[in-house]
This record gives sequence, structure tokens and C-alpha cells, in this order.
Amino acid sequence: MATNISFPCAIIFFFNVFFFINSSHAMPSFNVQRYGARGDGRTDATKSFLTAWSLACGSRARAMVYVPRGTYLVKNLVFWGPCKNIITFKNDGTLVAPANYWDIGNSGYWILFAKVNRISVYGGTIDARGAGYWSCRKKGSHCPQGARSISFSWCNNVLLSGLTSFNSQNMHVTVHHSSNVRIQNIRIRAPSGSPNTDGIHIQSSSGVTISGGTIATGDDCIALSQGSRNVWIERVNCGPGHGISIGSLGDYANEEGVQNVTVTSSVFTKTQNGVRIKTWARPSRGFVNNVVFRNLIMNNVGNPVIIDQNYCPNGNGCPRQSSGVKISGVTFANIKGTSTTPIAMKLDCSGSSHCTGLRLQDIKLTYMRRSSASYCRNAHGRASGVMVPRNCM
Ligand SMILES: *[C@@H]1O[C@H](CO)[C@@H](O)[C@H](O)[C@H]1NC(C)=O
Repeated sequence: MATNISFPCAIIFFFNVFFFINSSHAMPSFNVQRYGARGDGRTDATKSFLTAWSLACGSRARAMVYVPRGTYLVKNLVFWGPCKNIITFKNDGTLVAPANYWDIGNSGYWILFAKVNRISVYGGTIDARGAGYWSCRKKGSHCPQGARSISFSWCNNVLLSGLTSFNSQNMHVTVHHSSNVRIQNIRIRAPSGSPNTDGIHIQSSSGVTISGGTIATGDDCIALSQGSRNVWIERVNCGPGHGISIGSLGDYANEEGVQNVTVTSSVFTKTQNGVRIKTWARPSRGFVNNVVFRNLIMNNVGNPVIIDQNYCPNGNGCPRQSSGVKISGVTFANIKGTSTTPIAMKLDCSGSSHCTGLRLQDIKLTYMRRSSASYCRNAHGRASGVMVPRNCM
């Protein structure tokens, strides 16, 4: 009996091994070192990366760009699609930007995937070495516009898995004009004082999932700007940073809305904000609806729950009008922890288009071991369950 059972198992086992080897041989792999890249951290490897990309992208079969271990100095890399087949970009190394921030800072993008469909980017570290650029900005000297570290624009069916990104000049990861994008287990790190170093910035994109990640930065951990639709964010550790934000919105009168967003099972530590919706106080056709923030822990967060329709950082260039962005159907549920300011919940909505359909459920936020306070203006909805601070709607 024993042999009758184990014999078919052995056949299945060998078939699996056979197919695994066979399928990995079937995928041509374009190793950047074959095209001259040296992992010495000094030799400019930009051309080698672009050569490997164009060969992989032109391959009729599924193809891989492979970056072996090592440190590769690269300037602006634009990986253009569309490609002939599915691409895997596997990075076992570290990409570093040149020490002189002008080398990448003028184009707006350091590493850009454009018009690529069906791509998986696995692993690796990218380090834009942004510190010199930030100090240029802080001194108010003449600086380039600054580069985003890794961007996906006009891409569909993207997986970005296991990336580590350090010290971007500008935003770390952007997803613009794209759909069906999964970002998993990302690690992002920049100092808390680094300007405009958003962790992940999404705009005009639909079907974006961010699951698992640790984001420490000087601006929003994740920002969902105009036209972000069907977004799911879970298991993110945010801090330091400015929290997870929808906005800023109302930049333009004619703006796409934000809808169907869920942020869940995440932890905020020493962030300026927790979950936030921010709009400038000026006319706009933008809107926010169908948003759920739930199962969140706040550890010493400045503004754990905040809707700010008079957004104007540093009091510079405030429009001082009334925000036209209509906010409706927003739920805050099961949000617990500590606030570092007395007003742990601020719902400051527009006088010309009030917030409607807000739902608060089981909120417990303390300030210096006592109850925190809440502030509401033009906010309408209902509350249930534990409410600390009290419901002010
Ligand atoms: C809302 O977004 C989720 C992904 O987060 C998606 O699965 C769902 O289908 C979307 N709902 C609608 C009505 O589009």
C-alpha cells in the first residue's frame, strides 16, 4: 500500500521540478552586467540599464531585467513601454543617484516606468541621496525642481514588491494615470525634516492596493491626490511623517474626485497627522466620497482624525475663500490611541459645501492620559459606540 501512495507523489514531485526549471529557462533574462554595468558604486551604469530594458521590452517572450548584487550608480532612467510581453524587473542590488543633485534633479523623475503594461518589479534598494538637495531647498538657493525616486505613469497591471527606498529628493514613489497597481511590503525612509518627501503619491489612478509597509518620511506617508479611485491600503506603519492623507485637493477648479478608498489595520507613530482629508479653501468641482478609515492605532499623533478644508501649510498663499470640494460618506471606525494635541478630532468642513454622511464609530483618543477634545464645523453625520472625544456633530 505504501508504495502505491508514494509512487504517484514522487511523479508529481518530479513533474513540478521539471516544470519549474523549464519555465525559468523559458524566460530570457537580461542581466545589466552583461551590458557593462559594474556594481562598484562609481561607474555610471545608466546606459547598461537602458540597454537591458530595451532588449527585455522588445522580447516576444516574457522577459526579465536582472540586477545582480552590487551598488550601481545611475542617472535618470526612463523605461518606456509598451513592451511586447510581460516584464519582470528583479533587483538584487542597490541603485544610487550621483552625489551632485543637479545630475538627476532637473527632469522631475529619477526612475520612471512609462506606458508599461504588465510589469513586476521585485526587491532591491534605491537611494537618491537627497540630503544635499534638501539643504539647497532649505537655504532657499537656486535648486532644480527635484526628482521623484520611482514612478509609474500610464502603466497598467503593476506589481511593486519588496522595494526599499531611501532619501528621495522629492516624492519616493508615484503612481499617476495608472490602473491595477499593487504595492507590497515597501520600506521607505527619509528624515522627518526632509521637505516634500511623500512616501507614496497617487493621482488619476484606479485600483491601487498598498499592503504591508513601513514608511518614515518628512511629508505624507501616503497621499491620495485628485482622481484616486478604488484604493485599498492595509498594514502600513507610518511615522515619522505627516500621516495618510487624501489631498491636498482643490488645487484647480476642474479637478477629478477621490472615491472608494479604504485605509485599514495601520499604525501611526509620532506623525503630524493620522488620517486626514485636506482641501484648499477655494472653488473647485472636486469631491471626496465613499471613504473608510478603520482599525487604526495612533501613538502620539498630532492630529489623529482631521478633515481640514482650510488647508494652508505655513500660512503661505492661503486662498481664504470657501472650499468647493464636497466631502460625503466618510467613516472613521475603531481608531484608538494617543494624541499630542488636545483636539484629537477636527472636522473643519467647507461653509459652502458642508460635509455630509460622516460616520464615527468606536473612537478612543486620549491626550495626556485624559479625554481629548473635538472640533466640528459644517460637519453632519452620526456617531455610535465609544466616543472619546465626544461627538461634536
Ligand atoms: C472599491 O475598491 C475596491 C478596491 O479597493 C474594489 O475591490 C471595489 O470593487 C471597488 N468598488 C466599486 C464600487 O468600484
